Amino acid sequence: MNHGNVMPRWIPLVGGVLGSTTCGALLYAWSVFIKPLNAEFGWSRADIALAFAIACLVFGLMTYPAGRLSDRYSPRIVVLIGGIVLCCGFVLSGYIQTKLQLYITYGVIAGFGGGLVYLPPIATAPKWWPDRRALATGFAVVGLGLGSFIMAPLATYIIANSGWRSVFIYVGMAMGIMAVAAALCLKVPPAGWKPAGWEPPRTAQPGDKEDRDYTYAETIRTPQFWLLYTAYFCGSFAGLMVIGHIAGHGIDRGLDPMVAAGAASWLAIANATTRVMSGWIADRIGIKISFVAFFVVQVAAMALLYPSGHLYWALWAVAALIGWNYGAMFTLFPATCLQYYGPTAQATNYGLLFTSWGFAGFLGPFVGGWLKDATGTYSAPFLVGAAVVSISVIIIAFMKPPARKHV
Ligand code: 2OP
Repeated sequence: MNHGNVMPRWIPLVGGVLGSTTCGALLYAWSVFIKPLNAEFGWSRADIALAFAIACLVFGLMTYPAGRLSDRYSPRIVVLIGGIVLCCGFVLSGYIQTKLQLYITYGVIAGFGGGLVYLPPIATAPKWWPDRRALATGFAVVGLGLGSFIMAPLATYIIANSGWRSVFIYVGMAMGIMAVAAALCLKVPPAGWKPAGWEPPRTAQPGDKEDRDYTYAETIRTPQFWLLYTAYFCGSFAGLMVIGHIAGHGIDRGLDPMVAAGAASWLAIANATTRVMSGWIADRIGIKISFVAFFVVQVAAMALLYPSGHLYWALWAVAALIGWNYGAMFTLFPATCLQYYGPTAQATNYGLLFTSWGFAGFLGPFVGGWLKDATGTYSAPFLVGAAVVSISVIIIAFMKPPARKHV
């Protein structure tokens, strides 16, 4: 049934871009705070890194309740509450005096709000785009790349002019406004809605049983769900273990620090671009084949990272490849979950699946740092990263979709 122009369907895409940009500013520009916090309080890098690790863990774990509440009530209310909490946590971080306060305001409160903002657009936008589901998913996560891209220079500028506390306070308020605007753009289409002129592809013959979506309870009883969970954990763990060390590795191999830092910028650009491009590619050539290709290239890129460290152009190229493959996961995993289990319980299903990223975000950077300290070189974390992503390749390449459910 076509209900006409219920709401122009680009509006949920705008909601996705706004919500994800807020989350990108929350998570992926954290490194700009390391120096000023160290200078003011003398805290070690590990102490400061713990705030980020807590934020990742809480963010990742909150996506599960965010998904359940979004399926049950509405994505709008979940993102609205998340935006307000995120804003409060970020603004309060501008007033901290102790590490514990930072862990609570940034790690727990802002991370909590971020998880609520992140998940609902990913489940909602594709419901308006059954003809371009992976692409719509890409729009709902593209801002994780964009947000860091905007936030890193903006925060650096504010820190230089009025100090790190102002970043938390003013950017926190702007993030709150963006998240509220995102919430207003989100709504689930009425049951049976489809875009004008579009018919779902039908392979069934008259008299066949109708397909129906998996419920959440059915989803988590399929082995495929837990295989996806493992593949997501491995891909994220390896990515987060490696990404934070790329610039340091270039410096260790003799590159100028500014030149080595250029690798992080190329990684961020590729991480943003791939989120939409991988959706576009997957809608054309298929999700599974795209996924295997991205993961295979990721194994190769991680294996090449160590030998490329002394050549700036090679380091930049490999860093861009790693960002490209890492960012694609955030489009392709939700798209696979949607393809396997259908849209009905997607927010809850994907909310649970994404908790794997929360664990990876907590552990990956620590294990990477530990491997580097224990072996004295970056080759260990990079090679372990390549081996861990190989597990994802094998899982995705050999996994079969679950059998369809019938009415
Ligand atoms: C992402 O980049 C939050 O890491 C997650 O989409």
